[in-house]
Amino acid sequence: MAQILVTGGLGFIGSHTAVELIKAGHEPVLIDDLSNSTASVLDGIEEITGHRPVFERVDLKSKAEVRDFFGRYSSLDGIIHFAAFKAVGESVHKPLEYYENNLGSLVYLLQEMRDLQIDNLIFSSSCTVYGEADELPITENSPVKAAISPYGNTKQVGEEIIQDAIKAHGFNAISLRYFNPIGAHPSAMIGESPLGVPLNLVPYVTQTAAKVREQLAVFGSDYETRDGTNERDYIHVVDVAKAHVVALNRLLNRQNEGAYEVFNLGTGTGSTVLEVIQSFERVSNSKLNYKIVERRPGDVTAAYADTTKANTVLGWTAEKSLDDAMADAWRWEKKIRNID
Ligand code: WQD
Repeated sequence: MAQILVTGGLGFIGSHTAVELIKAGHEPVLIDDLSNSTASVLDGIEEITGHRPVFERVDLKSKAEVRDFFGRYSSLDGIIHFAAFKAVGESVHKPLEYYENNLGSLVYLLQEMRDLQIDNLIFSSSCTVYGEADELPITENSPVKAAISPYGNTKQVGEEIIQDAIKAHGFNAISLRYFNPIGAHPSAMIGESPLGVPLNLVPYVTQTAAKVREQLAVFGSDYETRDGTNERDYIHVVDVAKAHVVALNRLLNRQNEGAYEVFNLGTGTGSTVLEVIQSFERVSNSKLNYKIVERRPGDVTAAYADTTKANTVLGWTAEKSLDDAMADAWRWEKKIRNID
């Protein structure tokens, strides 16, 4: 049993990972600044696991708050770092807030790891570092390209900062590059709760079906794909969460083959926007109200993972399907909107 700091622990992926950590017998300590989540998520975690993990509201942009927290938790066995702003489009308009929040918090965490000899870090990275990949599926050796957004750049630079810190201070880290996490816990006790108008596809689909949104706009149907709409690798958030426990155990058990490792987290299967809509209509037995509009600037045509390294080296494989994720996402949406 290890005591693990989970930053952004009340967020979408953080909360699902907290559940899997508890189920695996670990003791997560959750911190979150509640800028994009609510403390009620803790109730959902407790409802699912029967255990209410420690939660503290901490602003990781404040060095003083970080120092104070680590002064009271000085024997952590590892850190899983989710906390970050993550809206690609927003980052284009607010680059300095993104660099301050996403990179400032990372540097403060790494300084505490150095000073307290905390040896294990799992970093939440993203497939966005690959940009428009030259080859598909995308492997971990695919070139990391000049980021198409400040958000993507914070993930790219974040990985570089970690590698420099490892060279100087010798701890171990794994970066997990998520493709498109979607869905919700099957219990419908926790899920994705974007504040405001959702920027990502799946919450917009379920909110349209719940009549919270008028109509889904499909951003372009003239791409070089089988039906003209963008292709992505949609992976169930519970599969993503489980991968974090496997990666953490790899570090705790010293199975890593070097101080820094990177793994793509995807299903290996691409789905187009229209296929996501068809999946939703299938699992909800309904017709979704959508229309095709112009392309969204910054969208890549296709991105889906080569999962060989995660499957063989990490020893993890995604188990849930697109239909599972869409059914769980819809169950969660109906729960929070009190729809039968
Ligand atoms: C998916 C597809 C859109 C909304 C981003 C980040 C990535 C990760 C996941 C954090 C695209 C289309 C979307 C809508 C649409 N975030 N779409 N109508 O852009 O692949 O990835 O979120 O780690 O880093 O880059 O996800 O859900 O925004 O879009 O047609 O209302 O759905 O064009 O093809 P994306 P997304």
